[in-house]
Amino acid sequence: MWLLDYFSVPLPFIYLFLSLSIFWCIKYIFKSVKHLCSLPPGPFGFPIFGYYPFLKEHSYIQFDRLSKKYGPVFSLKLGQYDTIVVCDWDNLKDAFANDALLARPAKGFLSGIEETLSVIAMSGDAWREHRRLSLHVLRNVGLGKREMETLISEEIHQFLSSLETNVNDLPQHLMPSVSNNISALLFGRIFDYDDPDKMIIDQSVQGFSESFQFTGITSFLPWLTKPLIALGKANLKIISKTHKHLNNFITKEVLKHQNKANSKEIEDYIDGYLDAQSKRKDDLFNDMILRRNVISFFVAGSETVTSTLTWTLMYLVKYPQYQEKIRSEIQEVIGTEKRPDFSDRLRMPFTQAFLYEVQRIESVVAINLIRRASQDTKIGPYNVPKDSLVFFNFWSVHHEPKLWPNPDKFDPNRFLTDNGTKVIKPPYLVPFSAGKRACPGEGLANVELFLYTVGILQRFKIKSDKPLSFDAKFGLTRRPKYKPDLIFEKISSQY
Ligand code: HEM
Repeated sequence: MWLLDYFSVPLPFIYLFLSLSIFWCIKYIFKSVKHLCSLPPGPFGFPIFGYYPFLKEHSYIQFDRLSKKYGPVFSLKLGQYDTIVVCDWDNLKDAFANDALLARPAKGFLSGIEETLSVIAMSGDAWREHRRLSLHVLRNVGLGKREMETLISEEIHQFLSSLETNVNDLPQHLMPSVSNNISALLFGRIFDYDDPDKMIIDQSVQGFSESFQFTGITSFLPWLTKPLIALGKANLKIISKTHKHLNNFITKEVLKHQNKANSKEIEDYIDGYLDAQSKRKDDLFNDMILRRNVISFFVAGSETVTSTLTWTLMYLVKYPQYQEKIRSEIQEVIGTEKRPDFSDRLRMPFTQAFLYEVQRIESVVAINLIRRASQDTKIGPYNVPKDSLVFFNFWSVHHEPKLWPNPDKFDPNRFLTDNGTKVIKPPYLVPFSAGKRACPGEGLANVELFLYTVGILQRFKIKSDKPLSFDAKFGLTRRPKYKPDLIFEKISSQY
């Protein structure tokens, strides 16, 4: 009070100030309680950090457990964000169809490390325009076309030859081979497996995938990213370093494209983007976004497929009887003289069922890339306030016992009709998500998964002389925690 006396503040002002403060506090508490009551139920967390300090590496399993307690759609605070988690098929179906849930977090996924958003992280009109342009260009240069399949088939041929000379060193060449397929679309060329620049970026993608988590600090506590990098927080340092490597490589590639003598011909994604950029009057398309888009497509297009294929090979070893069954389909439909064709899958139901079962049980993208509500909306009966973040827990849906009897059992037959002659893909198998923001690489990934699996089994018997661990590591994707020791025994020669 002496301070107020000193400044001789009149008493009525003090009363007014106190009344306004109390009024503001009551209004704030009332608003917060009303807001909390409007959200689906869920666990409490700490101020500022919310539930974030309790999140573990395999957050999708934690979310699955929380859904048993709070209901199939529940909420929790992560950092400053209200987050809604959808864990069952009925509500997920509803969410897929909701246009108010197409946005991504306003600051993207790498806040504090990279501020320019790529098509994967954009929202609203910018996302719509970039997605439309990206798909248009990629289709023009081969995505979804017969030529792309021929290119993949040729790449697999090189990969299998390298496997013959480097038998048992699968992981070393699988990633460079798979990433060559997306490289062909983005850069207009493929790389030798020992190309030093390409080796660095393949390793960077792997380092990035292991260290990055969509449920990590960069998404929920972005203001902590820079101080933690400065303090040497290991995984953030790796994310930042690998991101720089990727950026340097792509910058060089873009420069090469900009300096091309015959700049009129559109041979790849970079050409197509630069062409569209030059025709626009505004700056919606620019070099920074181009670089970010190329990195995003490169990472999304190689890591996911490599992880799925590695799981596939491991299940082929774990269940040799299924490996033989696929090989007998190969004998019947393709033989050993001809390269596999994607259309062969139509006569190979068991092979297709096996690939579906790997995608279900391992759910490489266990939780969706985070969405954001762009306006107040609902998922089923649950309120979703504007700007809440939304997780689709694919892991839960892929392990829901009502949909998949005995969900922890690996059983490709669940996708086959009773007589085993037809494969059926139920709508609730959603490894690529669904709706307007579903994965644009689904077609390419399916061609790769089929052709690599069949190509390998046509030429090699896969075994292991050690028990394989099926423990997973969850970063950008769910991948095997330990490099599997696989033996590739040659059974037929090159076509
Ligand atoms: C087995 C392989 C793959 C899986 C399981 C997978 C899964 C997914 C999932 C679940 C999403 C999130 C979609 C959403 O928000 O609803 C996604 C997005 C995306 N994927 Fe894939 N993907 C795979 C392969 C690929 C490939 C080969 C490419 C390259 C062409 C690719 C490019 C992308 C891009 C660019 C996005 C962001 C789309 C957007 O935000 O509009 N993916 N993927």
